[in-house]
Amino acid sequence: MKFFADTADVAEIADLAATGLLDGVTTNPSLIAKSGRNFLEVVKEICGLVEGPVSAEVVAPDHATMMKEAAVLRALAPNICIKLPLTIDGLKTCKALTAEGVKTNVTLCFSANQALLAAKAGATYISPFVGRLDDIGHDGMELIQDIRTIYDNYDFQTEILVASVRSPVHVLAAARIGADVATMPPAVIRQLANHALTDKGLAAFEADWAKTGQSIL
Ligand code: E4P
Repeated sequence: MKFFADTADVAEIADLAATGLLDGVTTNPSLIAKSGRNFLEVVKEICGLVEGPVSAEVVAPDHATMMKEAAVLRALAPNICIKLPLTIDGLKTCKALTAEGVKTNVTLCFSANQALLAAKAGATYISPFVGRLDDIGHDGMELIQDIRTIYDNYDFQTEILVASVRSPVHVLAAARIGADVATMPPAVIRQLANHALTDKGLAAFEADWAKTGQSIL
């Protein structure tokens, strides 16, 4: 399972990239606004920090303008992945960019039928938002299971990129289902390494080691 960081915070991305555990980055207009930085500048900088795909989202509602925006974004770096909304215009743009060999991430997916359309449009990634579904009383993971089943039924190569991840519980559930990628806020990536018994055990080992009076180095 691949891990993407869902942020436009370059300091966080650099820190996570240094662990060797980061496979890519996803951004969206809200995350760019939160960064307070110029969109094109910050995306270009992020592309230099990671080898994997960096999703940058178009903001136009229509196909023709989406194509023009995608051309600007594609010119930023070779590891750009064009993020497109799950609308008819977004799907049309996905099909056109896929034909040109461009990586695409179809976002704001909330139903299995939407995911089916994205796969038919040749999307590299489909981004179902599990947290936002949970927020309105639906089961986000049920959607991930449905998409996994449908993609396997028809041998679609589109990767399931679980988005709107709120906690390690989402990551575990997505991994059990066999989702390809989870994109997470940096804090959630760090939480994956945490366990109270790890902390407790480490404290005990440190205390006992101190009693030996020895040193490895
Ligand atoms: C995914 O690409 C989105 O940027 C993201 O996961 C949205 O998550 P949110 O629901 O926490 O805003």
